[in-house]
Amino acid sequence: MGNIILTGDRPTGKLHLGHYVGSLKNRVIMQNEGNFDKMYVMIADAQALTDNFNNPDKVRDNIIEVALDYLSCGIDPNKVTIFVQSHVEQLTELMFYYMNLVTLSRLERNPTVKAEIKQKEFGASIPVGFLTYPISQAADITLFNANIVPVGEDQLPMLEQTREIVRTFNNYYSEVLVEPKAVIPDNKICSRLPGLDGKAKMSKSLGNCIYLSDSEKDVKSKVMSMFTDPNHIQITDPGKVEGNTVFTYLDAFCTDDDFSEFLPDYKNLDELKDHYRRGGLGDVKIKKFLNNILQKELSPIREKRKHYEQNIPEIFDMLLKGSEDAREVGAETLKKVKAAMGINYFEDVELINKQQQKYK
Ligand code: TRP
Repeated sequence: MGNIILTGDRPTGKLHLGHYVGSLKNRVIMQNEGNFDKMYVMIADAQALTDNFNNPDKVRDNIIEVALDYLSCGIDPNKVTIFVQSHVEQLTELMFYYMNLVTLSRLERNPTVKAEIKQKEFGASIPVGFLTYPISQAADITLFNANIVPVGEDQLPMLEQTREIVRTFNNYYSEVLVEPKAVIPDNKICSRLPGLDGKAKMSKSLGNCIYLSDSEKDVKSKVMSMFTDPNHIQITDPGKVEGNTVFTYLDAFCTDDDFSEFLPDYKNLDELKDHYRRGGLGDVKIKKFLNNILQKELSPIREKRKHYEQNIPEIFDMLLKGSEDAREVGAETLKKVKAAMGINYFEDVELINKQQQKYK
């Protein structure tokens, strides 16, 4: 079998630059290389509800925002099945069977979930749905027999958990599930892009994002307000590049071509960094350079979005069709899963005959 690629996002807000360099960009490249049998992109609304159950409107409103961001970045529904998680009911059924294969202590050890529980201040009141979302994610991946999952670094524990579930299932029942592997960006920074404040990962809940749909003006003012080196006060002061968010972003986004286009006094990022370290290079200049690079990347996305924003009913229709496709594939896998577990009673003539023989 060839490659089956699957990935997804929680619809809790518009997508930002962290999503873009962490995964979206990679997806579009993979889509266009065409080296796969099937590619799926899932809007993970059921997962989003595990910590937004008391605010379903947020999830409801952001389904279309995420879809608009996908299309604007170049994800093409003619090549990729884009679907909505809650509309593929086989996912919940599969999760229920997987729950038998995972212990509570294993769930509590998941470092990403652990960090999220702390951040959300659940304390002793952790919703079961939230704690178990890694099991749901295992169902997302395996229902489609995906072997490649392009994600950011924070998703590696989910993939590890998925692989464990696959191995346990195949071991208890029979070899029907595919073990997936994560594909993370080569550039470490892209895998975990920090927010504007430079402190934590870019994240909606921390309010440190540049959104793909931000206006030109908003992107510029966010870049101009970015954190640099607090000790670099005068232009002539030597500056620090490490931990300087503008340079972190340049590491993630800039290419040598950007220098010839926007900053021809320097050949590459190393030269620019050297000058900053020596002193004599001001923050405004590097911020303007970063702004130019980001605007170049974002303006085609922004333009495309304006077009798609005028076609909302068609996009919902596309999601419905994608979800129908996903359900068909899901039903096939679930049938195999149930046969492997021996719970396909009504299709098993041998079982029926055997049970009859017992009493003859
Ligand atoms: N947990 C992922 C996130 O927060 C979203 C997601 C849900 C996902 N199901 C998935 C990603 C399956 C990859 C594969 O971004």
